[in-house]
Amino acid sequence: MEFSFKYAQYSHFNLLSKNDQKLVDAAFEAMNNAYAPYSEFQVGASVLLGNGHVVLGNNQENLAYPSGLCAERVALFYAGANYPNEVIDTICIVAKGTLVSKELILAPCGSCRQVMIESSMRQSTPIRIIMVNQDNRTLVIDKVEDLLPFAFSK
Ligand code: THU
Repeated sequence: MEFSFKYAQYSHFNLLSKNDQKLVDAAFEAMNNAYAPYSEFQVGASVLLGNGHVVLGNNQENLAYPSGLCAERVALFYAGANYPNEVIDTICIVAKGTLVSKELILAPCGSCRQVMIESSMRQSTPIRIIMVNQDNRTLVIDKVEDLLPFAFSK
């Protein structure tokens, strides 16, 4: 048995389609509004919905550390709360800070992957993921299931 998946890599997000570039710009905008005084690692997420709307999220930290939440889940839960019937087409994730080295791709944490899987199962269509690292290198993954093999699922 073997698990493998294909993904696209670009040296800069300006090689993406215009629509995807807009989504990346929105994620950067969200990142700059993150509340991350403890980690000083700001993360932004933008979510493209089926109706073309883009919703934003960023990490929200708390003095009681575990009470905070990642950017991806802020965005996905906002989408679920406010657009419960809209499909999630794509999520884009960007970050800045010294916590993760500049050349590493900011891949979503395991909890966020689990939440993405649930969103994808609910809508029965794949969710695309765009990840832009701190030197603009970009990965595009066709479906969240690729990032979480053997997910906890129904
Ligand atoms: N963080 C995210 O927002 N998304 C991730 O995928 C990984 C980590 C946040 C959580 C915390 O506020 C900060 O980054 C440092 O872990």
